Amino acid sequence: MLNTGTVLVSGGAGFIGSHLCERLLGDGYDVLCLDNFYTGTKKNIRHLIGDPRFELVRHNIWMPIFVEVDRIFNLACPASPVHYQNDPVATVKTSVLGSINMLGLAKRRSARILQASTSEVYGDPQRHPQSEEYWGHVNPIGFRACYDEGKRCAETLFFDYHRQHAVDIRLVRIFNTYGPRMHPNDGRVVSNFVVSALTGKPLTLYGDGSQTRSFCYVDDMVEGLVRMMDQSSSIGPVNLGNPEEISIRELAERVVRMTNSASPIVFKPLPNDDPHRRQPDISRATELLDWRPRVCLEDGLKETIAYFRSVFK
Ligand SMILES: NC(=O)c1ccc[n+]([C@@H]2O[C@H](COP(=O)([O-])OP(=O)(O)OC[C@H]3O[C@@H](n4cnc5c(N)ncnc54)[C@H](O)[C@@H]3O)[C@@H](O)[C@H]2O)c1
Repeated sequence: MLNTGTVLVSGGAGFIGSHLCERLLGDGYDVLCLDNFYTGTKKNIRHLIGDPRFELVRHNIWMPIFVEVDRIFNLACPASPVHYQNDPVATVKTSVLGSINMLGLAKRRSARILQASTSEVYGDPQRHPQSEEYWGHVNPIGFRACYDEGKRCAETLFFDYHRQHAVDIRLVRIFNTYGPRMHPNDGRVVSNFVVSALTGKPLTLYGDGSQTRSFCYVDDMVEGLVRMMDQSSSIGPVNLGNPEEISIRELAERVVRMTNSASPIVFKPLPNDDPHRRQPDISRATELLDWRPRVCLEDGLKETIAYFRSVFK
C-alpha cells in the first residue's frame, strides 16, 4: 500500500534511523531525515540520496526547526555508552531539549510523534523480565545517568505534552538491537565481537561472561516502530525487543565460530552500573501490535557479519 505525507526521522542517518528511512520510503512516504552526524554518517543513507522523496538536513535537534511534516519519529540520540558518555551534557541536551523541540513541532503541526526510548529507563532492573509497569532502578548520578535519566525525562515530556497539549504521542522502549550499519567502534557487544573476530583481535568478556542479553535484529525493530506509529489504540509505553536470552560468553563463542576467527576470548572486570540481565516482556507489543521478532540470532548475525566484512575488506 502506498502512503502519503511527509515523515520526519530525527537521527535518520544513524543505525536504526537509516533502516527506518529506507522502510518509510518503500512504504510510499516522503522522508525528511534530520541528523547532525554526531554518531550517524551519510554513508548509512547514501543509497537514498537522489530519491526525490528523500531529503537530508544537517540539523541539531537542540535547536527548533519549522518544517511541514505529518509524522515524526524521534530517534536522535547517541545510543552506546562510549558515545553518550563522551559528552554527557550533550547527551542530556539531545534527549531533553531535542524532545521539547520535536514535541513543539508535533504540536504546531498536529503531527503524531513517536519517541524511541530505551530499556535503560529500567536501569539495573530488580525484576525479570521487565514489563512496562516497572518503574526502574536507575542511579541518577552515575556515568550512565546522562542517557538513562535523559531518556526518562524525555518520556516525562512526551506524557506531559500529551496531557497538557493533547499531542498525539507514541512511546516505545527499545531493547538491544543489532544489524548492518551499527557503528564499528561503539563498544556495543555485537559490533565489538564481530569487529574483533574479523580483525583478529581478542574478544573481551566482562566478568565471567555469564550475564545475559537479548538481541533484536534491526528489521524486526523497524517493523515494531512502524506498527506502533500506525495504530491508534495505545500511546504506550510499549517494549520492543527480543525476549530470547543468550549469555555474553555464548555470543562470543558463536561469533568466533561463524567468522572462522582465530581470535582468543579474554576476561576483564565488570564495569560499574553494568546490568546483569536485561530481558523484555513483550506481551504488550504482541497483543497490541501483533508483533514479535521473526529473525533468529543466527540469521541476523550472518547479515551483520557480512556487513562488517564489506566495511573491513
Ligand atoms: N540500538 C539500540 O540497541 C538501541 C537501544 C535502545 C534505544 N535505542 C534508541 O534508538 C535511537 C537510535 O539508536 P541507534 O542505535 O540507531 O543509534 P545511532 O547513534 O546510530 O543513531 C543516532 C542518530 O542520532 C544522531 N544524533 C545524535 N544527536 C543528535 C542531535 N542532537 N541532533 C540531531 N541528530 C543527532 C546521530 O548522529 C545518529 O545518526 C536512539 O534514540 C537510541 O537511544 C537504540
